[in-house]
Amino acid sequence: MANTILVGAQWGDEGKGKIIDVLTEQADIVVRYAGGNNAGHTVYVGKQKYVLHLVPSGILRKKKLCVIGNGVVVDPIGLVEEIEGLKKLGIKVTPDNFALSETAHVVFPYHRELDAQREVLKGKNKIGTTKRGIGPAYGDKAARVGLRVNDLIDPALLEVKLAARIKENNGVFKALGAKQLSFKKVFAEYREAGQYLKPLVTNTVVLLHDAMRQRANILFEGAQGTFLDIDHGTYPFVTSSNTTAGGACTGSGVPPHRMDRVVGVMKAYTTRVGEGPLPTENQVISDLLHGMGREFGATTGRARRCGWFDSVATRHATMVNGIDDLAITNLDGLDTVESIKVCVAYRHGNKQYDFVPNDAAVLAECQPIYVEFDGWCTPTDKAKTFKQLPPKARAYLKAIAELSNAKLFIASVGPGRDQTIFV
Ligand code: GDP
Ligand code: IMO
Ligand code: MG
Repeated sequence: MANTILVGAQWGDEGKGKIIDVLTEQADIVVRYAGGNNAGHTVYVGKQKYVLHLVPSGILRKKKLCVIGNGVVVDPIGLVEEIEGLKKLGIKVTPDNFALSETAHVVFPYHRELDAQREVLKGKNKIGTTKRGIGPAYGDKAARVGLRVNDLIDPALLEVKLAARIKENNGVFKALGAKQLSFKKVFAEYREAGQYLKPLVTNTVVLLHDAMRQRANILFEGAQGTFLDIDHGTYPFVTSSNTTAGGACTGSGVPPHRMDRVVGVMKAYTTRVGEGPLPTENQVISDLLHGMGREFGATTGRARRCGWFDSVATRHATMVNGIDDLAITNLDGLDTVESIKVCVAYRHGNKQYDFVPNDAAVLAECQPIYVEFDGWCTPTDKAKTFKQLPPKARAYLKAIAELSNAKLFIASVGPGRDQTIFV
């Protein structure tokens, strides 16, 4: 399969987990390279539903190595819970199939508290974060005051470094009128989690390069989406990592010239959870999808905002990520829509954009310019081949792939493994 980076081409929740699970069949190793447990990747194996937050979605297949790379921020309490939850469902996580980077940064309770406090301070300008402490954890990493997994698994190092961080953060909480953290309690909990995780910790950069020498196929599992990227997204309504393809290199230690292919995952329509501009947002399509019980967040349970497919955004995503192939998911979500709109450009005053403007305030004022497609008004969820799809559905898929400037590779018509059409 060669080394493949898989990224979300919209605002997250594109169905990356499902597509990773399908592509893992041909991979040897699956690597998460960015984000933390703000992610929620849903995979169905038969009727069993799994929601992965930190553990790569490849874990559900046997004899695949799953790696959490250096670019991820790890909440160890959450990770232990996730591993234990998987064990209860019969999925073993051992040093044979799972490796955690020594240099991934650790998320602590003060990060979560700061995340929550900053949202309150922002009031109506809040980001709508997942409150998992992601922003403050990456902030500490950039400020060079973060603790890494290597610190977590060494109780003596953890004790000294954590004491200093709690002291500083308690000073901030005092000024904010927020509750003080108990060093004793946090230290005890984190020491225990660190010792639980210790056997899984390794130098994942060396591990990946050893595997490449043995011609392993590596799949890089993106989290979040292109427009949540700290550099390329709708700042400040973004997450705090590089979610785009470049992040796979820095977040894993695998250099750019060893990457062979980029797969972009996108829904056949658009969704976003949290605040920030979403030019094609539409109440009718939101109500339709929510009425079907779809589009509720896998991590926070929040209703996702929904809208028409935005090809200005996906074209921009192809440019920034270098997307070669597209996996288009949730085609079946449009099965009952008689006339389907696709945004092909934005209008802002008398200016027209065919790329996503950098200023989130400008983007929020952009009016989508739409073309309309006839709906197919037939269920697609049982189709097994591209030919079995209604002609109007095929035309729609081809058109949105072409508008996104990349090749149609997969069409997904349901959450199951067998609802995946290779084009
Ligand atoms: P991720 O974060 O990109 O992995 O996506 P999420 O798991 O957060 O959200 C995608 C949702 O769509 C999940 O509930 C998936 O089970 C579901 N899903 C993925 N592909 C399809 C599809 O083709 N059709 C339907 N009906 N659901 C899908
Ligand atoms: P997956 O991997 C969708 C959004 C939050 C918020 C913003 C910042 O499942 O696609 P953060 O907690 O990261 O500081 O929140 O980013 N967000 C996601 N939206 N899918 C995700 O992950 C997300 N991870 C973060 O809703 O708007
Ligand atoms: Mg998700």
